[in-house]
Amino acid sequence: MKKILLATILVTSSLLAQGSEVETLAVEKCGSCHLIGPITKEKLNNMSAPPSWALAKKVNTAYPDRADAIAFIVDYTMSPSEDKMLFSHKTKERFGVMPSQKDMISKDELRAVAKYIIDN
Ligand code: HEC
Repeated sequence: MKKILLATILVTSSLLAQGSEVETLAVEKCGSCHLIGPITKEKLNNMSAPPSWALAKKVNTAYPDRADAIAFIVDYTMSPSEDKMLFSHKTKERFGVMPSQKDMISKDELRAVAKYIIDN
C-alpha cells in the first residue's frame, strides 16, 4: 500500500514538473507576442499578436478534433501564410502575419507547446 502511494506521488509530481516545463517553453517561445505567462499592464499595452486564449478559441472552433488542432498550430507556426490564417483580415491589418518560428523551436517542442495552448 505504501509503495503504491509513493509511486502515485512520484508519477503525479513528475507530471506536474512536465507541465510547468512546457509552460516555461511556451512563455519563452510564444509568450512575448501571445501574452502567455503573467499578464502585466505593460504587456497588454504592447500587445503584438492575439493573446493565446484567443488562439485556443479560434483553433479549437475551426478544428474540433484535438489532433487536427495540434497539427494546424504546428504547421502554421513553422510556415505561416495569409491564406492559412484563421484570424480575420482585421487581425492582419493590426498585427501583420506571424513571422515563421521555424528556426526558434523544434517540432517536438512545438507539438508540446501546441497542446499547452489549446488546453489553456
Ligand atoms: C513575433 C511575434 C510572434 C511570436 C514569437 C509568435 N507568434 Fe503566433 N502570431 C503572431 C501574430 C502577429 C499572429 C496574428 C496574425 C496571424 O494569424 O498570422 C499570430 C497568430 C498565431 C496563430 C493563429 C494563426 C491563424 O490561424 O491566424 C497561431 C496558431 C500562432 N500564432 C501560434 C504561435 C506559437 C505556437 C508560437 C510560439 C512557438 C507563436 N505563435 C509565436 C505573432 C507571433
